[in-house]
Amino acid sequence: MSSPKLIATAKAMVASGKGILAIDESNNTCNKRFEKLGIAPTEENRRTYRELLLTTPGLGNYINGAILYDETIRQTTKDGTPFVKVMNDVGIIVGIKVDIGVKGLPNHPGEKITQGLDDLSNRIAEYVKIGARFAKWRAVITIGKEIPSRDCIEANAQALARYALLCQQGGLVPIVEPEVLMDGDHTIKRCYVVTEEVLGTVFDQLHLQGVVLEQIILKPNMVISGKDCPQQASIPEVAKATVNCLLNVVTTAVQGVAFLSGGQSNELATAHLNEMHVRFGSKLPWSLTFSFGRAMQQPALELWKVQDANVKAAQSALLHRAKCNGAASLGKYSHEMERSAELALAGYRALQSQLSSQD
Ligand code: 13P
Repeated sequence: MSSPKLIATAKAMVASGKGILAIDESNNTCNKRFEKLGIAPTEENRRTYRELLLTTPGLGNYINGAILYDETIRQTTKDGTPFVKVMNDVGIIVGIKVDIGVKGLPNHPGEKITQGLDDLSNRIAEYVKIGARFAKWRAVITIGKEIPSRDCIEANAQALARYALLCQQGGLVPIVEPEVLMDGDHTIKRCYVVTEEVLGTVFDQLHLQGVVLEQIILKPNMVISGKDCPQQASIPEVAKATVNCLLNVVTTAVQGVAFLSGGQSNELATAHLNEMHVRFGSKLPWSLTFSFGRAMQQPALELWKVQDANVKAAQSALLHRAKCNGAASLGKYSHEMERSAELALAGYRALQSQLSSQD
């Protein structure tokens, strides 16, 4: 059933010149990223880190919404202000990851199915009460020898559609995220074929199960070469393949397409999005933007190191990526934008080493 409220939320999530910040890593994933940098994997460190991100001054200028994890949506700043209030106060729409991760698909070695449909309606009702207005569910498709199988694509598409319907019935806009992984040595051509089949199957299922397409946001991978492929496609090739693929299978009814970054480097993910707008901006029937996790957060996480003294630098690093990606979503990103941030960071590092040599 059509809901003016959900349509308005979906439109606001992809409003022009801004995107969505994904900070919904499960505790497990967040801890792994912390441990790689020598950060203790504690609840308090996760809370402090998410506070740093969500209280970044000016973030709302480039971010329409942020996706949180179950632990985070219940947390507060150090002074006791709920994160949900912090976000509402600066106009960042609250989103929540509702899948509970992936497990092996029975009888299909190397393939995964996403979990979380049991009891989903009750969890949605609780998240709505807490203040969520949209949700996310990620399906994972792996490219390899003789995979993905048809069974895997269909099982994941069915689950995505079921999730999307339950969200719409419960009052949340679903972000539908079928991610074709960039792991492997496959070519961009293979990524195109698989992504097209996956998205086609997802839209068949959404239609079959009665999901209102005007009330979803699609979160796909870009069409790129596998990360171990010796022949890496150029930025214009990625832009062309991705936009062609989306135009072939994504109905004009959806309000927006917001890409995941999937392990691409920060600058490359931004450059790919920018190129899509530079080349095809006027031909796109939906808003085309970002919903990056790693490609938004990584520089901030690396700078933070659990030190209060680093919070400002980490926040500027996040704001910088948000600003670059916001510009890319309008086709206005340039390498000069990166250089000014590098200079600011070099200045900050010089100051830090001066201060520590005075200790
Ligand atoms: P990445 O941009 O790091 O791929 O994360 C996006 C996301 O939400 C994954 O589910």
